[in-house]
Amino acid sequence: MEIKIQSLDQIHEAAKEFIAAMGENTVFALYGKMGAGKTTFVKAVCEELGVTDVITSPTFAIVNEYRSEDTAELIYHFDFYRINKLEEVYDMGYEDYFYSGALCFIEWPELVEELLPGNTIKVSIEEQKDGTRTVTLNQL
Ligand SMILES: Nc1ncnc2c1ncn2[C@@H]1O[C@H](COP(=O)(O)OP(=O)(O)O)[C@@H](O)[C@H]1O
Ligand SMILES: [Mg+2]
Repeated sequence: MEIKIQSLDQIHEAAKEFIAAMGENTVFALYGKMGAGKTTFVKAVCEELGVTDVITSPTFAIVNEYRSEDTAELIYHFDFYRINKLEEVYDMGYEDYFYSGALCFIEWPELVEELLPGNTIKVSIEEQKDGTRTVTLNQL
């Protein structure tokens, strides 16, 4: 399925549509170029899920952890952009996160492709010429 984000003003509506489509899935891999809007969209989705902590880009840490005030559930937000070796991902204990049953949003999944669980939902975010973003969810 496809979700359109017309502008930043409308991103929370798009996030709600995304949440409605998530179902029981927990691991979401976000593909898209630098600047496509992956971090911004994950932030909006987390806000809609009741996360109130300030969520910053996880560029300097591989994983950031958030807690939803609504459900007390943990949400993990990964950014693998800076990993050099898969070993770093093994060392951080990725399995404890990916298979925890908690929601996981993964930026730069290309770099850990072989470690993604089989039921990972692939999400692509693409910036169009007019600045709107198209979010595509595969397997849904
Ligand atoms: N849906 C959107 N509409 C307009 N601008 C956006 C949107 N999403 C992100 N941006 C802007 O694009 C820039 C890059 O966004 P970011 O989420 O950091 O991208 P990524 O994580 O894919 O590299 C930011 O300045 C952000 O404000
Ligand atoms: Mg980002």
